[in-house]
Amino acid sequence: MKLSVIGVGYLGAVHAASMAELGHEVIGLDVDARRIEQLSAGEAPFHEPGFAEILARGLASGRLHFTTDYADLADAEVHFLGLGTPQRADGFGADLSHLHAAVDSLAAVLPARDGAATLVVGKSTVPAGTARGLAESLERVDGVHLVWNPEFLREGFAVQDTLEPDRVVYGVRDPDAGGTEVEMLDAVYAQILEGGVQRLVMGFETAELVKVSANAFLATKISFINAMAELCEATGADVTDISRALGMDDRIGNKFLRSGVGFGGGCLPKDIRAFIASAEDLGAGQALGFLREVDAVNQRRRVRVVELAREMLGPLRGRRITVLGAAFKPDSDDVRDSPALEVASRLMASGAHVTVTDPEALANAERRIEGLVTEADASEALRGAELVLLLTEWREYRDLDPIATARLVAAPRIIDGRTVLTPRDWRAAGWEFRALGRPEAPVADHVPDPELALF
Ligand code: UDX
Repeated sequence: MKLSVIGVGYLGAVHAASMAELGHEVIGLDVDARRIEQLSAGEAPFHEPGFAEILARGLASGRLHFTTDYADLADAEVHFLGLGTPQRADGFGADLSHLHAAVDSLAAVLPARDGAATLVVGKSTVPAGTARGLAESLERVDGVHLVWNPEFLREGFAVQDTLEPDRVVYGVRDPDAGGTEVEMLDAVYAQILEGGVQRLVMGFETAELVKVSANAFLATKISFINAMAELCEATGADVTDISRALGMDDRIGNKFLRSGVGFGGGCLPKDIRAFIASAEDLGAGQALGFLREVDAVNQRRRVRVVELAREMLGPLRGRRITVLGAAFKPDSDDVRDSPALEVASRLMASGAHVTVTDPEALANAERRIEGLVTEADASEALRGAELVLLLTEWREYRDLDPIATARLVAAPRIIDGRTVLTPRDWRAAGWEFRALGRPEAPVADHVPDPELALF
């Protein structure tokens, strides 16, 4: 089938290349000419495992193209909307201006198909009610149908999540009627559906709410365990044992119960805020009052890391601190609302000499924070540190050897902000080890490493 993907940011670019991988003819559009040039040249504009490969395959097959011109979309049967819906500058709500602008530009080329069935598929995360509003204007063009088909992909697993999703959700005007829109989208996803994936058809508003409530639930799970971490800090309990014990209950499950410096990224933080704002607009604000607390717990964890640094070092001015990680999560170069970078900024504001290292995200981090000192080589970054903060759990940081690492730093002090290190191993190698929600070692646990006496 001939498809277009409008908005080739993270979601759209992965979707476009994945659809070409399924054998469709795909044209990706963006108003950002630089991005279109990059993608057309086979350059992945972000780090995402497997994306560069499917982009290259799509381009080589001749099935994948990119453009900045809406006129090039006129003969596509299906148009996917992959526009970003960032947080508005003036509040919590979602900024839908990119989405509306794209739909207006698309509407201008749709009549070219002269009444032949054309499908528009919304993938962006939007407040409930958005799809129905867009359908009113789009479906005025003869033969045009709208489906809201939210995307649940995770960064780092984006290709896999697109080609092998847990479930596929179609939001339609009338879920009982079935109809052309369902048949057309089934045809696009035929290979995915043949694999046995559940496909759920529901009303527009329900599909929109499925997406935002899924993100709200995940954020709540993380903030729940982080709230328990706060209680652990007040009582001397260990949050990792709480996670383990809770996770063994099938009804709770062990995923998204890893405590630490909390959630960031381009989705969870802004989506829960947009959800709060849209519930308030609908007069149902009370229903989501708890999400304000979910957000607040998450913000407090970032502040707590800085407090811990102060407890370990005293005044931070002039102290040398190395931050391991800049991306909001491993296997990504995305630094949007990254907890690691916010902590680094706060430490810098307190006068500390901060060096940030990350395997993929330093260029983006430098663009985001003026004056940020970065070092790509982790060993170099660690050299001379008086305190190390692990804030993004890249494999290579989880695997750091405490004895070898101690030889690099000026003083063996570490905060595990992602609850991934084994305190006993680090303490045995002579490190002063602190983690969020985990007890400080009793003095007797501090086993000095004889090798450290050499430094
Ligand atoms: C999220 C949703 O998972 C995805 O379904 C949706 O489509 C987009 O938003 P993503 O932003 O890629 O995906 O990140 P995710 O893997 O959900 O992690 C979000 C944040 O939570 C990261 O900062 C991560 O480090 C943190 N996290 C995750 C925890 O702090 N603890 C956990 O147990 C899990």
